[in-house]
Amino acid sequence: MRLIAIDGPGGSGKSTVSKALALRLGLERLDTGAMYRAVALLALRRGVDVHDGPALGRLARSMVLEVNASILLDGEDVSSTIRTGDVDAAVSLVSRHPEVREELVKRQRQWADRHGGGIVEGRDIGSVVFPDATLKIYLTASASVRAMRRAREFDARGEVDPDVVSTTRESIERRDEIDSTRHDSPLLIADGAVVIDSTSRTVAEVVDEIAAML
Ligand code: DC
Repeated sequence: MRLIAIDGPGGSGKSTVSKALALRLGLERLDTGAMYRAVALLALRRGVDVHDGPALGRLARSMVLEVNASILLDGEDVSSTIRTGDVDAAVSLVSRHPEVREELVKRQRQWADRHGGGIVEGRDIGSVVFPDATLKIYLTASASVRAMRRAREFDARGEVDPDVVSTTRESIERRDEIDSTRHDSPLLIADGAVVIDSTSRTVAEVVDEIAAML
């Protein structure tokens, strides 16, 4: 099974790069961040406390989730709802809990079995979910470039307000801190991962570099 793990912090270009790489290689892609976001959205909607691991675990186990080009949560298309500020603020807290991680990691492994491999992006893919992946990439970029990219995603017209960039940077740094210091499966560079800094490189350059490693 050919499995490519792409990990890294928010705004490092994981999604853009893995989409382009999936097209190039004809592989399926799984965005595991979307799965954690779906649990966070469900928790917000049902009023479940983001500190209540057992209750969050029950939510994760009960949801019907399809992660393809669109994200379907219990049949509803939540592709854009999972990217709002409320979910951004809750998702790192929700994803700290082992009860949540256990269920989502199980689903991620089932997905790979069903598809015979693919490109899986997240925070702990090379370290925990698929430690024997064919190739492990850790994608990173400077905090200011990551904030600029995220701010641009929010504003489709491309006119980026400096205030939005600075609040986005604060939100990204807050999430980095929680994701990197949590007890269960923190964001880290997995053993054997190749680190690629995308700060001053185009998507095409990064995709070429990864494709050349296969
Ligand atoms: O990649 P993203 O920004 O959509 O991820 C959202 C959050 O989900 C991130 O802040 C931490 C969590 N996450 C995780 O804990 N493990 C993963 N494999 C993917 C995401």
